This record gives sequence, C-alpha cells and structure tokens, in this order.
Amino acid sequence: MAEGTVLKQVAGRVATVTINRPEKRNALDAATRAAIVATLDELERDPGVRAVIVTGAGDKAFIAGADIAEFEGRAPVDQFRVMSQWSVYQAADRFPKPIIAAINGFCLGGGCEFAMACDIRIAADTAKLGQPEINLGIIPGGGGTQRLPRLVGLGNAFKLLYTGDLIDAAEALRIGLVDEVVPAAELMARAQALAEKIATKSPVALSLMKEAVRASVRAPLDEGLRQEATLFGLAFSSQDKREGVAAFLAKRTPEFTGR
Ligand code: COA
Repeated sequence: MAEGTVLKQVAGRVATVTINRPEKRNALDAATRAAIVATLDELERDPGVRAVIVTGAGDKAFIAGADIAEFEGRAPVDQFRVMSQWSVYQAADRFPKPIIAAINGFCLGGGCEFAMACDIRIAADTAKLGQPEINLGIIPGGGGTQRLPRLVGLGNAFKLLYTGDLIDAAEALRIGLVDEVVPAAELMARAQALAEKIATKSPVALSLMKEAVRASVRAPLDEGLRQEATLFGLAFSSQDKREGVAAFLAKRTPEFTGR
C-alpha cells in the first residue's frame, strides 16, 4: 500500500482506493483530488483490475466534502479554473470499470457527489449523507444538482438541497440515494464480495454496459436508446461474447479474457 492522502490496495481482481485524511474527515483538498484522478487513471490501465471500491479512512467519514478551508478568499476566476479541470466526479463517471462507493461515515457535499458518480453505493448503517452547501451560501459543484434528482427524484433532491439536512443510511436507502445498507463492521467484506462477483464477468461487456447505462442519464432517452443499440452491436464483436454464449450452450462456466 502506498503512503499519502489516497491509498491503493489490490486484492485479486479488485482494487480498493481509500481516501486518507481522517483527521480532516477525508475532505477533498486539491492534492487529494489530483491523487484520486491519478489513482483511477492507473487502475484504468491495469488489466488485472476489473472492479474498484472507494472508501474513506477511519470510522467517521467517507468524504466530508470539498476542503472548505480552500474556499476562503478564493476569487471566482480561480474557482472557475478549478472547475475546468478534469474532476474526480468525471473520473468516476467515465471510469470504464465498475466502481463501488463503500460509504463508511459522513458522506457530504463533494463526498456525496463523488459517491453518486460511482456506479453502486453501499452504506454502513452508521453513515450520514447530505448536500450541506446551502449552509455555506453556495450550491453543489460536483454534479449534485444533476445526479441527485436523477437518483432520488425532484422532491427528495430539493428537500436535501434546500435544507442542507443530513439523512441517515436507512433514509438514504428508502429514497434511493444508496443501494444497500449493512452493519458498519460488515461494510468492506460486503463491498469486496460484490466487487469480486462483478469481477468474474466479461470486462468488455461490463465497460460497454457502463457506457450504455451512463448514456441513459447523460442524454435524452432517444439518444440513449440509439447509443445502447450501437454498443449492443459492438458487444457482438468480442471474444468474450463468443465465449459467454458458447459456455452457456455447453452448460459450463465461461472463461472471460477481456478481448
Ligand atoms: N473541509 C475542511 N475541513 C473539514 C471538513 C471540510 N469539508 N470537514 C471536516 N473538516 C475538519 C474540521 O475543520 C476539523 O478540523 P480541525 O481538527 O483542524 O479543527 C476536523 O475536520 C474534524 O472535524 P469536526 O467538525 O471536529 O468533526 P465532527 O466529527 O464533529 O464533525 C462533520 C464532522 C463532517 C459533521 C463536520 O466536520 C462538518 O460539518 N464538516 C463540513 C461538512 C460540509 O459542509 N461539507 C460540504 C462542503 S461543500
């Protein structure tokens, strides 16, 4: 495991990325954001890694948001420059392999936005989630105004955004902000088991599927359906497709190679 504000650990086909600033509740400062982008870039290029889990160090926070200390005194033009960089949110959204957020505590602001940019969210029963930007007199800048209503519907999104209130894991599950809640002690084992299961599937099909599903929320329905049709056709060009179909017909387990 490397040292720094972002740790990477690979177990079999699954990599775990840990945001490691527990004394600041894993708040995202510029260096940590850059390290997340660089780490995901490395994992994208590592063919041995087929699924990724992201979590926070310690037992208090997943990510407590952007580092608010960096906001102080920052001019609009400087903040605009930050917003123009390739972001951790884009990095997760465009990451061509499955990425699971294991939410182990406070998941606020940019932390909640990062979790929403991941594919699947599993929360510890102790987690607290919210978009408290309104309490700082700002709005979410990591995609929260777009991804939150898509996940939880307009009314629930407005309630969270307008009030800045935190909700517990059970409420987050009820409204669809997280997909599963488990006892805190079981969080990483559950995330690992799910990631390992996904990692046995065809990497080609997984990444095409992710692209198609992402298109469903990126673009209007008609455009998404067209994109899905194109990617479905492309999936038929892979060896994994031939192997998957042949294995099913032969009643054996497929051996996917990613080609
Ligand atoms: N940015 C910068 N520093 C943060 C931070 C953030 N988003 N969240 C927590 N910290 C820092 C605190 O300033 C404190 O630093 P210090 O020890 O140097 O004083 C340290 O992390 C511990 O935070 P503390 O508030 O003492 O811990 P807590 O467990 O009582 O509360 C939170 C945790 C997450 C509820 C609380 O820190 C908080 O509300 N953070 C801000 C959340 C937020 O508004 N995020 C959206 C940003 S856009």
